[in-house]
Amino acid sequence: MTAQLTIEDFSLVFRTRHGTVRALEDVSLSVERGEIVGVVGESGSGKSVLAYAVMGLQDAAARVQGGRILFGGLDMLGAGEQALADVRGRELAMIFQSPRTALNPIRKVGAQIEDILREHANLPSRELRKHAIAALARVRIPDPERRYNAYPFELSGGMCQRVMIAMALACSPFLLIADEPTTGLDVTTQAVIMDLIRDMSRDQRMSTLLITHDLGLAGEYCDRIAVMHAGHMVEIAPVEELLSRPAHPYTRQLLAATPTPRSTVEGLVSIPGQLPDLRRDLPPCRFSARCERHVALCDEAPLPWTSLSATHLVRCRVPL
Ligand SMILES: Nc1ncnc2c1ncn2[C@@H]1O[C@H](COP(=O)(O)OP(=O)(O)OP(=O)(O)O)[C@@H](O)[C@H]1O
Ligand SMILES: [Mg+2]
Repeated sequence: MTAQLTIEDFSLVFRTRHGTVRALEDVSLSVERGEIVGVVGESGSGKSVLAYAVMGLQDAAARVQGGRILFGGLDMLGAGEQALADVRGRELAMIFQSPRTALNPIRKVGAQIEDILREHANLPSRELRKHAIAALARVRIPDPERRYNAYPFELSGGMCQRVMIAMALACSPFLLIADEPTTGLDVTTQAVIMDLIRDMSRDQRMSTLLITHDLGLAGEYCDRIAVMHAGHMVEIAPVEELLSRPAHPYTRQLLAATPTPRSTVEGLVSIPGQLPDLRRDLPPCRFSARCERHVALCDEAPLPWTSLSATHLVRCRVPL
């Protein structure tokens, strides 16, 4: 079976006035058809940079240093702008972390959904309005006929977020990149939207890369979880295995820092230390300065992947 998305040894830096930011190094990950793969990690670990790279949307300061990103058969790093534009919105869609910036401020939201449907869904013109309103209703926008005529500034932040989700899902993409899709929404709406994403994955074999800092959400909806720390992928495993037998010391700390319905304020721990400055020379293991298990071997490059099972991989010399 060929994966819907394959990321292989992907490295990317940003060249800035203040130095070179080594944002992603040797990142590998795949998403099969119908699979939901979570990417978790602290703020600044490189989740959004990875999402943009998969979409082929890169900041002018970004430089790809190596690796491959394959979407189906398409080489996303080598494809021209036209080929990328052809797949975006139809086969490949993204829910952005900041919804307002992703919407056109001077176009009514219904018209924006229709633009996508017109370009990618092969519907007769008279059907567009009905489908756009149905797309708004699916993400639980109350009174969708009225909201269809609203401009983004007339809607709350949470409502804009739902409009953007409706736009991303409108064409039933093959791959959905969802960057913190439900952060800030109330729990009921969050569940409706995540259930919708899960149903589309199951029924239409949509693949999803779910980026979130919320391990609880990832645990509930993902098939597999990948953990990122400071631009490195450090552990990948099926969800139950990652949650019950985390092998990387960082994963373990992330889990300990995740509130559960039973955790108390006193019981919660924060992750000691900070992410390293990505502009400096970094050791092979970027977690080493924060790690209690650090041994001399950890400073020897290259840092290998260890297979704990066919599906559980960890990038650590001394896994738990
Ligand atoms: N255009 C840019 N120029 C320079 N550095 C950048 C740029 N974009 C991102 N970075 C850096 O890349 C690193 C990863 O950022 P990214 O936005 O991917 O983090 P994230 O994991 O999505 O965090 P969050 O959970 O807060 O959304 C950070 O150190 C960030 O400062
Ligand atoms: Mg982000």
